[in-house]
Amino acid sequence: MLKTSAFIWFDRETLLPQQITLTETDKPSGSITPSDKIDSHAYPIQLTYLAEGNANILFRITSAPNHQTPARNQSLTDLDHSLEFRPDDFLLRLHKNKPFIASAKDQFSFYETKIVPLFDRFELVDRLLVRVNRHVLLALNERLVQMDVLSRTGGLKRDGDVIDDKDGYGFLVRDMSPLRKRDLHEGTNEALNGIESYGSSIQKVGGGGGGEGVWLEIKPKWLISSPDIDGLIEKDKIRQCQTCASRARKSRINCENKEERGGRETHGFCPLALLLNVNDDDPWSEEKEKWLAAIKILFKDKNATEDDIRAMSWLVKSKLRPVLEKIRNYQKKFTTVNLQMMNADLSNMTEEYLLARTLRDCAIFLRTSTSLSDVKSENVNVDARIADLDAKMLTVEKGKYWRDTEKILVNEGWYECRETGNLDTDSVCVLSSHSPTQ
Ligand SMILES: Nc1ncnc2c1ncn2[C@@H]1O[C@H](COP(=O)(O)OP(=O)(O)OP(=O)(O)O)[C@@H](O)[C@H]1O
Ligand SMILES: [Mg+2]
Ligand SMILES: [Zn+2]
Repeated sequence: MLKTSAFIWFDRETLLPQQITLTETDKPSGSITPSDKIDSHAYPIQLTYLAEGNANILFRITSAPNHQTPARNQSLTDLDHSLEFRPDDFLLRLHKNKPFIASAKDQFSFYETKIVPLFDRFELVDRLLVRVNRHVLLALNERLVQMDVLSRTGGLKRDGDVIDDKDGYGFLVRDMSPLRKRDLHEGTNEALNGIESYGSSIQKVGGGGGGEGVWLEIKPKWLISSPDIDGLIEKDKIRQCQTCASRARKSRINCENKEERGGRETHGFCPLALLLNVNDDDPWSEEKEKWLAAIKILFKDKNATEDDIRAMSWLVKSKLRPVLEKIRNYQKKFTTVNLQMMNADLSNMTEEYLLARTLRDCAIFLRTSTSLSDVKSENVNVDARIADLDAKMLTVEKGKYWRDTEKILVNEGWYECRETGNLDTDSVCVLSSHSPTQ
């Protein structure tokens, strides 16, 4: 149901994908690698809606039944960048037809020149630029519209967005879905299935047969405190970081919209907490409490035991933190603008600052096929990779939005918890411990 049949063209030698077409007679036009004209080959695939964000829609790729796909010599222990390509290991990521989203080709050159030099390849979710024939884009949009009709009775919430059918290119991104969930979904025909497996939190995945693994998708946002704190707010009054301040504000707006008075958002974690240096054996401290609070929020499993929490702590500390630290350092380096500069001139938001905003909006996937109880064993393979590193285009609207949001956070006292203080003073934010009122 709601699958789109298509063909993916490979270079027969490198097995690198070149183009996705709707029929086998739609031969690849132009070339990405010079060799595609010499010897390329089409494999039938099916595309199924998987998930979407504000700017992109992701489709799962499955080999058409009974068709031989390129040999697989990659396992979880060898997820590094490789020329070998197996369609089922990748997703098709296409951007929506909203204004101010850069074309796939521009995104690709931004990625290769600005992002790739900052990280090791094994820290990034692989992405490959591929031509996507217009007929495929149109067919996928037709499916999206059909899905919207069906979902009115189903529970899938979409805003009716469609992909840009004029771009002509898209990305193949390594599928970082939970391993077991993904296996379970294979062979089912439910277009809406994949949705449930996505959240922003840890899941113990699986059970049954091959044991269980761990999977986590996290959007850390700002890992640095606001540059506007300096000079605008007295240091000892700061009680929230940028991420906690903005979450608290959003939570208040949601409450007001629902005409409820509910206090702060309880599901968020303070990203700075994930960078705290605490050990399991340390005695109680406020820092340790913040750290554990963040781990528990990530963990979401209400039945998590103390051992589970310890294993998660280890996983975050040893596998996620090195990546978070890199992102934090780059955010710091590239945040070259503060509110005063934005007020003076929006064009002070330089290319560097846009890069910091890209790094603010990334997602990190962490996954292993090993069960939580065994993750601390030697040689366990855990993959921690960064995704969603898209270029930001500066428009007047966006510049104003960023500036005005920051202005509100400063002026309404969200960094000082002036607004939330009367509702709930027990903030999850690491910076709240620094307050003399605590
Ligand atoms: N490589 C991947 N493997 C598995 N799932 C993915 C992958 N990339 C994205 N997803 C899923 O699709 C969702 C949307 O993807 P993505 O974040 O790339 O879209 P976006 O429009 O850029 O989102 P945002 O609005 O947060 O910027 C993600 O939250 C995630 O659940
Ligand atoms: Mg994005
Ligand atoms: Zn915080």
